[in-house]
Amino acid sequence: MIRLAPSILSADFSRLGEDVALIERAGAHVIHVDVMDGHFVPNISYGATVMKSLVGRTKLPFDVHLMIEHPDQYVEDFVTDQTEFITVHQEACPHLHRTLQHIKSLGVKAGVALNPATSLSTLDYILEDADLVLIMSVNPGFGGQKFIGSALEKVKVLKALRDKNNCDFTIEIDGGINLENVKPVTDAGVELVVAGSSVFKASDVEKRVREFLSVF
Ligand code: DX5
Ligand code: ZN
Repeated sequence: MIRLAPSILSADFSRLGEDVALIERAGAHVIHVDVMDGHFVPNISYGATVMKSLVGRTKLPFDVHLMIEHPDQYVEDFVTDQTEFITVHQEACPHLHRTLQHIKSLGVKAGVALNPATSLSTLDYILEDADLVLIMSVNPGFGGQKFIGSALEKVKVLKALRDKNNCDFTIEIDGGINLENVKPVTDAGVELVVAGSSVFKASDVEKRVREFLSVF
């Protein structure tokens, strides 16, 4: 099953609850939560308090994307009854195995994200430990950037690696996804599709969610 995870980074924060209600009503599956620290990426977004304000206001699970240094210090803050995944960046984790085990010990699925320039080979010894691999199709830090085409090939190779090694992690993509490029991406093997600006900047957000779902 392919799931849509709208990123609330592009939502209207003055009416975040209403924006989330819109995507939920239209059938979105997951809420993608982009956390940026101004160090790992050159932008600051929001923290656990904002995410926790949605607990109970929506039934959708949270997919937390930590674009931060020293994520081990903060993962506990993002654990709620609705947190499905917490994903850290390979580039931010010198002890990635330990960090993934830490997340799993909290009862949450553990994901690892790769920047566009980072090779899949950096995951050679960790694939069995990951519940999710997130392929970044933009350089993280901002919504509304253009999709980087090499991510498509990366997804295909990752899927082949998963089959070869008999792993069962979820494949996610994030960055620059729109109605034009989503089909090749899901055909390549992506099961969790993040879309920020193409959902929340649409003139009719509910209609845009339904358009995405009709492609899956
Ligand atoms: C980028 C974030 C993305 C972002 C996607 O650093 O990780 O999740 O919100 O936004 P769009 O879909 O607009 O590229
Ligand atoms: Zn993200």
